[in-house]
Amino acid sequence: MPKVTINGRELDVPAGTNLITAAEMADQEIPHYCYHPGLSVAGNCRMCLVEIKALSDKQNNPLPKLQIGCNTLVQEGMVVESDNPRVKEARRSVLEFLLINHPIDCPICDQAGECKLQEYYMDYGRYESRFSLGDKVHKHKVEPVGPSIMLDQERCILCTRCVRFLDEVTETHELTITERGDHSELTLAGGASVDNPYAANIVDICPVGALTNRDFRFQARVWYLDSADSICTGCATGCNIEVSSRRGSIYRLKPRANLDVNGFWMCDHGRTTHESNNAENRLQTSLVREGGQFVDVAASAAARRAAFGLKTVTSLGIVAGAGATLEEGFLAAKIQDLLGAGPRIVTSPATSDVPDDKMLISTDRFPNRRGLKALGYEEATSIDKPVDALLVLRADPVAAGGAWVEQLESLRATVVVSDRADETTGFADQVLAIGSHFECEGTFVNRDGRVQKFDAAVAPPATAVAGWQALADLLAALGGPAYDSQESILASLLDDLRDPSLVSASPSVAD
Ligand code: SF4
Ligand code: SF4
Ligand code: FES
Repeated sequence: MPKVTINGRELDVPAGTNLITAAEMADQEIPHYCYHPGLSVAGNCRMCLVEIKALSDKQNNPLPKLQIGCNTLVQEGMVVESDNPRVKEARRSVLEFLLINHPIDCPICDQAGECKLQEYYMDYGRYESRFSLGDKVHKHKVEPVGPSIMLDQERCILCTRCVRFLDEVTETHELTITERGDHSELTLAGGASVDNPYAANIVDICPVGALTNRDFRFQARVWYLDSADSICTGCATGCNIEVSSRRGSIYRLKPRANLDVNGFWMCDHGRTTHESNNAENRLQTSLVREGGQFVDVAASAAARRAAFGLKTVTSLGIVAGAGATLEEGFLAAKIQDLLGAGPRIVTSPATSDVPDDKMLISTDRFPNRRGLKALGYEEATSIDKPVDALLVLRADPVAAGGAWVEQLESLRATVVVSDRADETTGFADQVLAIGSHFECEGTFVNRDGRVQKFDAAVAPPATAVAGWQALADLLAALGGPAYDSQESILASLLDDLRDPSLVSASPSVAD
């Protein structure tokens, strides 16, 4: 590993690392616009200029000109300065150049609060402008360039991150730069539309407010948003995401970098998965039957009533959806072990009309099939052994058709644990209302066997509780072991997997 010195701090850095990344490892910032670790190096913004005081242990004279950190790799004995007066002056000049024709849009720009022009101007600029507002070159401001994306050409600093993403990652080539000098502009290539399954990633990587998401723009100022680390439930890939919310409402999902799963990206479908969180059929409170009618009760009361109904059964079947968490699947299985053997099935279909692609998208549109199978759940569309009772967990078997209605009507007890009212809840004796995965902490196992934990972003509605909490209450009411946290359940279940081969040998739990 080459040893380098950055701003007086010596450190070992893996060979092949550029100076922007090496500086981050030394807790230093080299500001940059065009460099992105998921794309090729373009070297066009010049914001990352640094001074090389010694190129290597063999060539230890300073380089006469400043160098760009994005395209300079570490060498043994390299000495770099990124905060001396010469670098600071060059950086200030680059900012002034980039901002000559930039509109004074900050008060109305949706990128405010997460704009690298704003941030770097405050950190490294703060100069008196030498250009008059009237001399600015004007370009198109509100141009839809795809179903989900709006372009403001005046705000674009021509860093080409978006162009490179579309050239190198999706290979769809919808955007290009045309014209010359200060009339250069980002534009659609050949009249195309930025309409591919990963299009919205260009909004995330645009360092300024030139590209905005048509769904999110003007919905919330980003400094009001809370953030939680989560896992996308849109398919079995399990892309790592960040959930932005405010006052209980979810505003947007963005990818979180995880080189072992999704790199820096997510698909556009995944970004829409929060929309069902506000569906009209969300369960607000648990339900029990009184005189044949459902009445609202507290979660703990519903668990006690469900336990009373289940305690004399001798065989319990579990019907789970592949969106149930590991913790929920584990606790349901514990309840089954306590009451009497029965089938454990996952009814969610493993394939869909969306094919696997060469990037991230899985045809399996559920996030935890592999985790439930590791817990001993089998894939089936029906239960073919007689059982006394059913526990239905985040599944709606009735909607899928088949003989479920006759089967449910013949049972001694049916308990549904769900975040929404559906056709199956209509056949339940008790419905335990739980939060969606945005409202609970939990764990999924993705298609490659990677165990990934996620946090709650918002609270469950009304009196609904976390899924693990509802099932832990039911297990305890039946006389089973007590669990008081998601962490304690996860610790128990990882020792208790029926098929550990479905989980990576040394599971790395993303947090
Ligand atoms: S739109 Fe954004 S990402 Fe694309 S070139 Fe302009 S500044 Fe860069
Ligand atoms: S590829 Fe799958 S897991 Fe990733 S963002 Fe899309 S739907 Fe979500
Ligand atoms: S980040 Fe190095 S030139 Fe743009």
